[in-house]
Amino acid sequence: MIEQIDKQYVLQTYARNYVNFKKGVNATLFDENEKDYIDFTSGIAVVSVGHGNKRVADAIYNQVSNITHISNLYAIEPQALLAKKIAELSNMELGVFFSNSGAEANEGAIKIARKYGETNFENKRYKIITLTHSFHGRTITTVKATGQESMHTPNFAPYPDGFSYNHSIEDVYNAIDNETAAVMIELVQGEGGVQPLDKEEVQKLAKFLKEKEILLIVDEVQTGAFRTGEFLASNVYEIQPDIITMAKGLGGGVPIGAILTTHKDILTFGDHGSTFGGNFLSTRAALEVLDILEETKDSGALDETIIYFQNKLSQIYKNHTNLFTKEVGLGLMRGLRVKDADTLTQIINESFDEGVLVLKAGKHTLRLLPPLTISKEEINEGFKRLENALSKIK
Ligand SMILES: Cc1ncc(COP(=O)(O)O)c(C=O)c1O
Repeated sequence: MIEQIDKQYVLQTYARNYVNFKKGVNATLFDENEKDYIDFTSGIAVVSVGHGNKRVADAIYNQVSNITHISNLYAIEPQALLAKKIAELSNMELGVFFSNSGAEANEGAIKIARKYGETNFENKRYKIITLTHSFHGRTITTVKATGQESMHTPNFAPYPDGFSYNHSIEDVYNAIDNETAAVMIELVQGEGGVQPLDKEEVQKLAKFLKEKEILLIVDEVQTGAFRTGEFLASNVYEIQPDIITMAKGLGGGVPIGAILTTHKDILTFGDHGSTFGGNFLSTRAALEVLDILEETKDSGALDETIIYFQNKLSQIYKNHTNLFTKEVGLGLMRGLRVKDADTLTQIINESFDEGVLVLKAGKHTLRLLPPLTISKEEINEGFKRLENALSKIK
């Protein structure tokens, strides 16, 4: 039923699985036949506080029963409070602009870098350097910022100028010239294969860029909001980027993006805006999400969950060295490199049949992004099902 309607009326841009989920409780989903699935995906790092979270539901209900939206022409209390909370949690002196998605946050970050490069130097600095295998979004600019040639199809050309890609941080130094405005990186490449960058190399790059007055943009759309164990991966890497972007886990499923910058004066009146960005609904939801995640972190529960999850995953890895070649990741953003792409497809399909949802990243990485509030019982059950699925792979 859902399949037929979807295929008739929804533009077919996704390779969809036609399971019809009806209910979720933390990391467990139930379909229309009441079959349960352990969710090791959180809707691709979004449902950070689990499905059906009562506190978030109540916060949203209370908010929208009064005001959902009034536009950015008026002060929005939860928006201001959320910006304050983000600044405090990040431990940085920064200002925040709210958007509706990760790509939009990255677009805004690129605008800030371009204006910085236009107004601060004798010659115009407009170039932005990114890494190969990166992913920065699907708008015409962020797709061009994404370091995957397959995404730059001629279908959508021409693209904005000024983007180049490098295989490693070492290569970034060689690519910099006097027109470079910014370097944009993910500290753990998510879509590219759950690949963390080396901490010392990142710190060295951050220092170098500061000296050269080139901005460092860190795309934390996937790594932000405690996914890697701290509020930001930048906190784990102990760096202070000029611009950080967030989205995904920040709203727990309510669309929200954020640009965080220590350069509070670059964007001025009229430079940027959004109809929906930072409205009462999304910022109230995100405030509650951050309260929950902060409590989870402060109580020690998040760190415990990360260790527990990682140990279970390592066990799976050791049990199946015929299928996996490497363990990768940070915090609750974890992956196992699979020997080839076909085997990975089989693993994802068998896992689904066994009742555990897992993801693909890059060409051959099995990616696991559970809710940060997942329980030990759900972890045990999920790995039991994953083990069953793996035992069926030849
Ligand atoms: C690192 C990173 N940046 C940007 C995006 C794009 O975010 P959105 O899909 O919310 O536009 C994603 C989405 O997967 C991402 O992982």
